[in-house]
Amino acid sequence: MRSGALRAALAAGLVIAASVAPVRATPVVSKDATLPVGSELNEELLDQPTELFGFDQAGGKRSYLFNLGDMLFSSSSIFGGKAADAGMSCNSCHQQGASNPKLFVPGLSAKPGTFDTTGSLFNAKADNGVFDPVTVPSLRGAKFIGPYGHDGRIASLREFIRNVIVNEFAGAEPSGQVLDALVTYVNEISFLPNEKMTSDGRLTDKASDAARRGEALFNKPFPKNASMSCATCHEADAAFVDHKVHDIGSGGYFKTKTLINAKFNAPYFHDGRFDSFDEVVGYFDKHYELGLSASEQSDLVAYLDAIGDADTPYTPNTVQAEIDELTAFISVLDVAIPARDKAVIRLAVDSVGAEWREVGENFPDRKDTSVEGGVAERMRARASVRDLVLTLRQVAMAAEADDFPEAARLYGQYRKTVAMVTPYLKAAEQYSLFNPRVHDKHFAALRQLAELAK
Ligand code: HEC
Ligand code: HEC
Repeated sequence: MRSGALRAALAAGLVIAASVAPVRATPVVSKDATLPVGSELNEELLDQPTELFGFDQAGGKRSYLFNLGDMLFSSSSIFGGKAADAGMSCNSCHQQGASNPKLFVPGLSAKPGTFDTTGSLFNAKADNGVFDPVTVPSLRGAKFIGPYGHDGRIASLREFIRNVIVNEFAGAEPSGQVLDALVTYVNEISFLPNEKMTSDGRLTDKASDAARRGEALFNKPFPKNASMSCATCHEADAAFVDHKVHDIGSGGYFKTKTLINAKFNAPYFHDGRFDSFDEVVGYFDKHYELGLSASEQSDLVAYLDAIGDADTPYTPNTVQAEIDELTAFISVLDVAIPARDKAVIRLAVDSVGAEWREVGENFPDRKDTSVEGGVAERMRARASVRDLVLTLRQVAMAAEADDFPEAARLYGQYRKTVAMVTPYLKAAEQYSLFNPRVHDKHFAALRQLAELAK
């Protein structure tokens, strides 16, 4: 949902520098961007990791704190330094609460999907002087997979998130409210349903025979150590974790990872050394001298594939999905304006304004020759987005001037404008980057530009 500085730079006619990294989805970054050339935030996703929250399943509703947390999770305003300049947010790495298998920042990543949170780029003070990138974990089921960090060093989610903001990304000390909101939000991020697995982690009759044989192997005591099986650490009825750290020969003590929806979490192990379940199983076979035959190994992989799956892992992004999301984000003003909470009003206006500008960039300018047709529709969509951003700015200005009735009035006007321009945005959708055909053509043209700039 978040598009980077790239398109903004393009629109401004800035020079495009070639990526040094292998070809990926959007392997170009503007020279002017804050991140090193070759960085890949993998933001131009048409199909996004599916998002599901605890209250969705419990039939509950979004609370104020949840909406605030949801908004902050996508906001660069809580970070400082380069991360804020580059428009990065929690969501840049934990996309829709999942992982980001393509994230790559030269100097901080060893391979796509890994990141050194103690490097100097984002906070010189937090630099531990060692290049020690780790995988970006999925936060699905976050409530059930503590302690936090690959090495399980922090028991409290609140403390972990505070550390992310202040130490890893040089943000100002967050208010209690900001932390409460992010903790509330992250705690709601759920595992995705999987018809092959029961809620207590057993296979259903939708799973294959191979997976079923694999399940038996998973529970079978190791030949050289009968007190241990895969399941003694990965407890099926406890989200496949034991909340402990172990030295399994991977370079130190690391926490047991969940295996739910893990099919989408590659690369595996703390440092992302393994790209597939095949490799992981091969490793365990050797390390614990399990003596598994080739067919047993493939049964175990079939089992990991089955419990690691999800019914709907990805969901296409649409204009309506963007509008729904931004409507939820801005709804914090329903509470913040009457409460005269200037800090939240400012955060909401900044974050939602930035999100709208990015939505606007999905409607290419008339100058963009990679897109055909719908010029009038695209221009009207862009103008609509500019209107919305402007109205939001006025909300913030009124609040800064302590004129809260005026802020409330302008917020009402903003909401009416959203309703009014929704048909315009939808009319332009087919000519926009929300359309897979247009999207692919547009990025193919960008890649060509990058080649020329080499
Ligand atoms: C640049 C990428 C990046 C950004 C931005 C980022 N994270 Fe992370 N996150 C990581 C990495 C890498 C780890 C693993 C770190 C470790 O093991 O110490 C991690 C770990 C976590 C964990 C622990 C998960 C677990 O299973 O132990 C939580 C919770 C988390 N991040 C939440 C957040 C929140 C909330 C934000 C925004 C305030 C955020 N992250 C921003 C990369 C990122
Ligand atoms: C002694 C505890 C223990 C046992 C036994 C164990 N694991 Fe694990 N497992 C871990 C730990 C700890 C990690 C994380 C290692 C790391 O981050 O370097 C892990 C990681 C994994 C991963 C990668 C998950 C990810 O997201 O990175 C898979 C898959 C896995 N184990 C499957 C198995 C299978 C299959 C077996 C049995 C053959 C098994 N495990 C036995 C503790 C255990």
